[in-house]
Amino acid sequence: MDDIVKSGLAKIDWVSRFMPVINHLSKDFKKNQPLAGVRIAACLHLEMKTARFAMLLKEGGAEVALCPSNPLSTQDDVVAALNHLGIPTFAKHGCSREEYYEYVDKVLDIKPNIIIDDGADVTAVVHSKRKELLKDLWSVNEETTTGVTRLRALSKAGELKIPAIAVNDSMCKFLFDNQHGTGQSSWDGIIRTTNRLIAGKTVVISGYGWVGRGLALRARGLGADVIVIEPEPVRAIEATLNGYRVMTMNSAAKQGDIFVTATGNKDCLRKEHFETMKDGTMIANSGHFDVEINIEDLDGLAQEVNELKPNITEYKMKDGRRIYLLAHGRLVNLAAGDGHPAEIMDMSFAIHAIAAKYVTENKGKLEIKVHNLPKTVDTEIASIKLKAMGIETEQLTAEQKHYMTSWGEGT
Ligand code: ADE
Repeated sequence: MDDIVKSGLAKIDWVSRFMPVINHLSKDFKKNQPLAGVRIAACLHLEMKTARFAMLLKEGGAEVALCPSNPLSTQDDVVAALNHLGIPTFAKHGCSREEYYEYVDKVLDIKPNIIIDDGADVTAVVHSKRKELLKDLWSVNEETTTGVTRLRALSKAGELKIPAIAVNDSMCKFLFDNQHGTGQSSWDGIIRTTNRLIAGKTVVISGYGWVGRGLALRARGLGADVIVIEPEPVRAIEATLNGYRVMTMNSAAKQGDIFVTATGNKDCLRKEHFETMKDGTMIANSGHFDVEINIEDLDGLAQEVNELKPNITEYKMKDGRRIYLLAHGRLVNLAAGDGHPAEIMDMSFAIHAIAAKYVTENKGKLEIKVHNLPKTVDTEIASIKLKAMGIETEQLTAEQKHYMTSWGEGT
């Protein structure tokens, strides 16, 4: 066996040990074959937890093909292992934009019944260039906030042609993956890339959605002074009451040592901010697309650009200040790290597996709109997870259950 395959298999074996919900579903999928004959095209970050998930789909009887959801998140040894395991995977770390869309086309050639997307790129392709595939499709199941935002825009424009499942919007996804997953994995990517101390630094988090909340929480835990940038008023109050300094990016630009964007929007860091940043400022992005930091503006201002080491680009300004861009502005947790911890992706991918089963059971019956999964899915996954964590929870007495569903007992 090639060393690269061995390395990928060893990674998959390691994380599989910490994915009890997936392993629980695996027994059921192997026995009952809920996805027998279902063709699934998945566009995901091709790292070890994703590989375990693809194996689960195959164990459930599906025909699976994979392509990357970001050019820099692919781990070539995991790709080699997946192909070795008989799961066709089309990807290469650092692929060009053209190659990226070639890989998308290749997975679409299986004529999928279900698309599992992370960022809605494949969804966009089947709604534009490959519309002939829509007739075979039962649903698109979306992993991330950015992808769900795109799906809702597609639906609002009256252009959504197949049912969509907002996996991201399940509580066992956004509460844990977006918040605690990104909270840990982004700092992991930043720290392992830079080998710098976070304690004592001023960290600026742009965006106070679930990802921003996690980033801010962990930055504070590491000893940073945290500033939050959030235009939405309710979230801005929440950040303030959680103890962070809330201000405009123009004010924060002069104060921050490390900036991390997590808004899903473009140009959060741009020319006017780079012009006032301190010498040595580090900037990174945790959002899905590399649009949050305007790299063209950085290029335009810089007198010199140097690749100092993998994932650290130095922009030397005319006045001598240096700004360090991490991971080329791509999502720092995957481009400069391994993505979310195994225990987190365990739940996210379990929701995807149940979503694929749900769509298969309901094929042809789902309305063409963006659906949330039933709340029972969250309860089921959380219950399996708690059991695996050895946590026994309080159970309501019959009297308590009755009280919670009646109106008679008051003052
Ligand atoms: N690993 C696989 N998919 C991921 C995602 N969307 N975010 C973080 N880590 C991942």
